[in-house]
Amino acid sequence: MAQSTGRVAGKKAFITGGAQGLGAAAGRMLAKEGAKVALADINLAGAQAVADEINAAHGAGTAFAFELDVTQEDQWIDVLEKANEAMGGLSVLVNNAGIGGDGPIESLDFGLWKKVMSVNVDSVFLGAKHALTHMRAHQPGSIINLSSIAGLIANGNSPAYNASKAAVWLLSKNIALYCALRQAGPSGAAGPHRRAERHRQCGALSGQRREQVHDRRRDQGRRRHLGDVIGFEVPPPRCGGGPGPLA
Ligand SMILES: NC(=O)c1ccc[n+]([C@@H]2O[C@H](COP(=O)([O-])OP(=O)(O)OC[C@H]3O[C@@H](n4cnc5c(N)ncnc54)[C@H](O)[C@@H]3O)[C@@H](O)[C@H]2O)c1
Repeated sequence: MAQSTGRVAGKKAFITGGAQGLGAAAGRMLAKEGAKVALADINLAGAQAVADEINAAHGAGTAFAFELDVTQEDQWIDVLEKANEAMGGLSVLVNNAGIGGDGPIESLDFGLWKKVMSVNVDSVFLGAKHALTHMRAHQPGSIINLSSIAGLIANGNSPAYNASKAAVWLLSKNIALYCALRQAGPSGAAGPHRRAERHRQCGALSGQRREQVHDRRRDQGRRRHLGDVIGFEVPPPRCGGGPGPLA
């Protein structure tokens, strides 16, 4: 059983790219703080290994592993349904899966361009589109999309990665605004200020936390630290927050 105490006790988080790196670190952190986690990845064996490790540490039924290619809409629909059932709900979506590996624009293969754009951007669109249906029933919720400093500053050598991560910023703002405009009930009573704040933060790290991330990039364990920051982005239940309630 997942623990009933912790900063995010009771949250149910779906994390893409959870087999390694930041996704795995976020899964470990959220589980340590009381959430149930679903780790979804094209690498099912890797996701299962992380889930097993989390269950050994925090109890059976804390973590679940699912095979998912984030570029495939039919898989998103199916796996979100299964994760929702396994965890008893869905209140957090972490769109973390992402790839780079592109090169200079003149030699970049069009197929690789499309693949990077699809894994990094289609995934955020598909995840938010289909997760919100489940998240409506478990509010307040949070959607955390992994962009990058490469979405703000071009490096001249990764056009697809630069373009895709820039797209994640504005897509996140769009999703945040969509959800904010549909707020109703007690949480929505905070009105424009709260909505503006959510819009400002919108799916990427707030300014202060971005600075923390940049400081920590120099650390050897930077992926673990970044995973912790993802966990920190999920507000505890008593704070409300997140993109809901949705009408
Ligand atoms: N590592 C960093 O310092 C850093 C900095 C800024 C942003 N990011 C972003 O954070 C995210 C995670 O980075 P990371 O370094 O942990 O990456 P990683 O390469 O270590 O892990 C990515 C995971 O995504 C999975 N994945 C790849 N394609 C997939 C697909 N089509 N469907 C499902 N899963 C797929 C991989 O199997 C892998 O488990 C990425 O979006 C990356 O762009 C990372």
